[in-house]
Amino acid sequence: MTQIKILASILSSNFLKLGEEIKDVELANCDMLHLDIMDGHFVPNITIGPDIVKQINDFSQLKLDVHLMVKNPSFWSEKFISAGADSITVHQEADYHLNRLINSIKEKNTRALVSINPATSPILLEYILEYVDGVLVMSVNPGFGGQAFIENSLKKIEYLAKFKYIHNLEFVIQVDGGVNLDNIKSLTDAGANEIIIGSALFKANKSEFVKKIKELMRVTI
Ligand code: DX5
Ligand code: ZN
Repeated sequence: MTQIKILASILSSNFLKLGEEIKDVELANCDMLHLDIMDGHFVPNITIGPDIVKQINDFSQLKLDVHLMVKNPSFWSEKFISAGADSITVHQEADYHLNRLINSIKEKNTRALVSINPATSPILLEYILEYVDGVLVMSVNPGFGGQAFIENSLKKIEYLAKFKYIHNLEFVIQVDGGVNLDNIKSLTDAGANEIIIGSALFKANKSEFVKKIKELMRVTI
């Protein structure tokens, strides 16, 4: 069984206590920090820029998974790679030249993932899947934490898992939005192997929450 990774989305953290929140995420044994970058154009919200990402990188041991919800991903991807991103996710909807962009991220020894919004079909990724390190299935409309999971996202995960199997590819499948203890097992059963969690994790005691996830995963073996 592939190892399931838990990525903590700090969008739901208390930013006045960000250092403490990140320490809690580390102590809870989460696998990566998921950083949501929003520019107020691609999504109706604004978050953090490269300077803050650099401070987080200097502060934390955890790898940084940077999710770009921005209109000009080729410009911003370079800034966030310089700031310390280990992984960059760009939206299929945000760039006309996805192949070029994915390759330019990989050339900088950074993991390159592509994301699709809830209304975008994974079929559109057919000719990029052999080049990416991963796919992020958005299971809410991007822009905010704490929204309800959109059920048909599960079908997209199944489609991608099947595609991976048929074509003998290795890309990871991430899911982001509305993940909680009630739906996580169905997501990993469908083939998601990197689970991004925001509000459900930050509302709970993080160590207890991650323990509960691991118990659920053990049941699947
Ligand atoms: C939404 C972000 C998510 C968000 C998930 O646009 O991409 O990473 O933080 O939060 P929850 O888990 O609360 O849906
Ligand atoms: Zn995200």
